[in-house]
Amino acid sequence: MIRDCRDNESEIIGQIINDGAQAYKGVIPADCWTEPYMPQAELIEEIAAGVRFLGYEEDGQLVGVMGVQDVQDVALIRHAYVRTSHQNRGIGGRLLAYMSEQTNRPTLIGTWADASWALRFYQNRGFQLVDAKYKDPLLIKYWTVPPLQREVSVVLANERWFASTT
Ligand SMILES: CC(C)(COP(=O)(O)OP(=O)(O)OC[C@H]1O[C@@H](n2cnc3c(N)ncnc32)[C@H](O)[C@@H]1OP(=O)(O)O)[C@@H](O)C(=O)NCCC(=O)NCCS
Repeated sequence: MIRDCRDNESEIIGQIINDGAQAYKGVIPADCWTEPYMPQAELIEEIAAGVRFLGYEEDGQLVGVMGVQDVQDVALIRHAYVRTSHQNRGIGGRLLAYMSEQTNRPTLIGTWADASWALRFYQNRGFQLVDAKYKDPLLIKYWTVPPLQREVSVVLANERWFASTT
């Protein structure tokens, strides 16, 4: 079942993010990895800044989350994580499809260039990498990303975004 996460679920959202994010360990540059990957205080700031989380519930437990944030004229997909024990079972795909149905905005996703599985996941579901020359301007316009992280990040966009730029 997919539903909106509740106000009192930030702790479980944080647990899912930090469990799912173990996939990055040893893959993204060491100076970008922190333990926990997302401290609780940072998550609470993100929610206060307008990131709305959808959750995937199985047997009464949240096992996957996907955040969306409307910024200026686009929607950003932020913090998409499925528990390690539940990955590769279609949960992320269902969350992404549900999320896409909920917005008419051009949609962007920023992720680590080295997270090849995440790129494949989005590319197999209607998102494409934006040209390298647009990546930094987009990361500066819509995200707050330190320069070091920008260098090792990529941006993917859906068809609606590409159509809006032509
Ligand atoms: C990326 C992530 C959110 C995707 O969620 P997921 O639930 O694992 O995704 P899905 O199961 O829908 O799809 C993943 C793969 O499993 C395959 N799959 C889907 N349903 C399946 C099933 N029932 N059985 C086996 N494989 C399945 C899909 O074909 C897909 O393969 P593909 O990427 O080659 O297309 C999740 O893997 C994750 O949390 N990864 C670590 C953190 C991360 O990279 N987050 C992205 C940040 S932007």
